[in-house]
Amino acid sequence: MRIENAVMGRKGILQKIFLGSLVVHLLVIAVAAGYNKGLKIWPMPVSVSHGRGTLYLRNDLELRIDGRMYSDASGIFKDGFFRFLEILKGDHVFQTNISSFNSSLIIKAIHVVIVSPSDELQHGVDESYKLSVPMLGDPSYAYIEAKTVYGALHALETFSQVCYFNHSSRVIEIRQAPWIIFDEPRFSYRGLLIDTSRHFLPVPVIKKVIDSMTFAKLNVLHWHIVDEESFPLEIPSYPKLWNGAYSSSERYSMAQAAEIVRYAQRRGIHVLAEIDAPGHAKSWGIGYPSLWPSINCTQPLDVSNDFTFKVIDGILSDISKIFKYRFVHLGGDEVNTSCWTSTPHVSNWLKEQGLNGDEAYRYFVLKAQEIALSYGYKIVNWEETFVNFGSKLSRETVIHHWLRGGVVQQAVAAGFQCIVSNQESWYLDNVGTTWKTFYANEPLFNIRKPQQKALVMGGEVCMWGERVDGSDIEQTIWPRAAAAAERLWTPYDKVAKDTTEVTERLAHFRCLLNQRGVAAAPLTGWGRAAPMEPGSCYKQ
Ligand SMILES: *[C@@H]1O[C@H](CO)[C@@H](O)[C@H](O)[C@H]1NC(C)=O
Ligand SMILES: *[C@@H]1O[C@H](CO)[C@@H](O)[C@H](O)[C@H]1NC(C)=O
Ligand SMILES: *[C@@H]1O[C@H](CO)[C@@H](O)[C@H](O)[C@H]1NC(C)=O
Ligand SMILES: *[C@@H]1O[C@H](CO)[C@@H](O)[C@H](O)[C@H]1NC(C)=O
Ligand SMILES: *[C@@H]1O[C@H](CO)[C@@H](O)[C@H](O)[C@H]1NC(C)=O
Repeated sequence: MRIENAVMGRKGILQKIFLGSLVVHLLVIAVAAGYNKGLKIWPMPVSVSHGRGTLYLRNDLELRIDGRMYSDASGIFKDGFFRFLEILKGDHVFQTNISSFNSSLIIKAIHVVIVSPSDELQHGVDESYKLSVPMLGDPSYAYIEAKTVYGALHALETFSQVCYFNHSSRVIEIRQAPWIIFDEPRFSYRGLLIDTSRHFLPVPVIKKVIDSMTFAKLNVLHWHIVDEESFPLEIPSYPKLWNGAYSSSERYSMAQAAEIVRYAQRRGIHVLAEIDAPGHAKSWGIGYPSLWPSINCTQPLDVSNDFTFKVIDGILSDISKIFKYRFVHLGGDEVNTSCWTSTPHVSNWLKEQGLNGDEAYRYFVLKAQEIALSYGYKIVNWEETFVNFGSKLSRETVIHHWLRGGVVQQAVAAGFQCIVSNQESWYLDNVGTTWKTFYANEPLFNIRKPQQKALVMGGEVCMWGERVDGSDIEQTIWPRAAAAAERLWTPYDKVAKDTTEVTERLAHFRCLLNQRGVAAAPLTGWGRAAPMEPGSCYKQ
């Protein structure tokens, strides 16, 4: 494969795209109603028009990046292009003599125009793209136009889903050509939580999860790094914290954490680090027992001890050097203050301060928020913080809903941004929740005012780690996370009201994941269930 940074006038390219589009529009059956039929793209794009022809992709496909605006100096797009080729080519043996093919049906290059010179992955970065694969006019090129390199990467993913290797002709075919696709996400936050405290996940497993997220256009990896069970992350400021790891090998050095963030960023995926406090933090005290109220009463973290906040400051200082996403997640959920009120030195402090348990909980959360703000972060907190002391929270807080009905509606009415992860629909560890429930979960349920809808940043499916590790995480995540991914990507009016309409297309995507080496489970049965009987992947 060859790569050229063609310096071609933007106008020239746009003219070509325009001419191509014009011809295509005249030819194509733009199937407006029921246009889903026969399409196999997941998640469904905003608008698709296509024909019935077949084009052929040269296996030495070239990449031409218009270097005037975006030069791809960091190679983010080139790397994406190589991954795209690798996926398409697999281990197939190709027909190299293509002189028997009609040469006007052969796509020999992808021509890419990216408008923004910056490849900084900011929150809310423009992810839109236009992909056109003309049949007449200029059939030797496919065109991608995007505002940012991250939109262009999505275009490659979509393109890969309309290509097929033909085992008799031994070439890659683009079926249902010509194509014109315009696309952009409905929500800017489309997350997946992984939990490395309940079980350690080795770095290659996390990288594979990140790869699989790109196939479904998910864009935030919420890394619930530590919890009461284990503290696997190195914190240079407080080097005994990772004494709380399960073992000396079940640990992430800062360099490995940085590598995970880098790997994700180059694929358009933000990493949201979570440091959950003051509850869910027993493991912190393995290295520093004074963080516990007492040896017999270990959580929440000792609110009366200045050292607790010094440690939080050290953690946020260290992680802010690596986790560059605008937000940090400070947890704040499931806090039971009985250890504070029952431990003499803590309860004395509470009396001195004139605080009861709940007020001390608020004091803790707000103090942790201040520390995070001082490192330039905005904050995500689990919903209990809003339910307990809503208006006292920093206005920079995003409320992460998981537990009670009605919280999202109340939080947006109070002017807070929200992330939706209601446990009855979007908890992947509930293996009894089927893909249909994941699909049907609407983040804007019961929210009517446009300015309140706009406060819902998106949603996230949660892969809590009590019963998953490297052996079963992929099949517990997929394909159900993909059902949520379409809900979060595709415009509301294009999402199927009746999930049976999308079963076949999701089954197709599940098989595509399998073909790409992702252990996605069958659609039939509960989450991560094994296939029931012999048969085609597409029927399981
Ligand atoms: C390539 O295919 C054409 C048409 O099928 C045939 O005439 C030609 O001999 C082939 N060339 C080689 C090198 O196999
Ligand atoms: C090649 O394909 C084009 C576009 O479909 C068609 O117009 C042309 O007749 C074909 N040429 C041959 C030799 O089949
Ligand atoms: C694969 O190519 C052969 C030969 O060109 C063609 O007859 C067949 O229809 C193609 N298969 C599919 C599934 O399109
Ligand atoms: C902790 O519990 C043990 C056994 O129940 C008891 O002997 C000890 O006094 C307790 N220590 C504290 C500090 O409460
Ligand atoms: C809090 O913890 C104490 C001691 O473990 C327990 O007795 C109590 O039921 C807990 N409260 C709640 C609300 O879970």
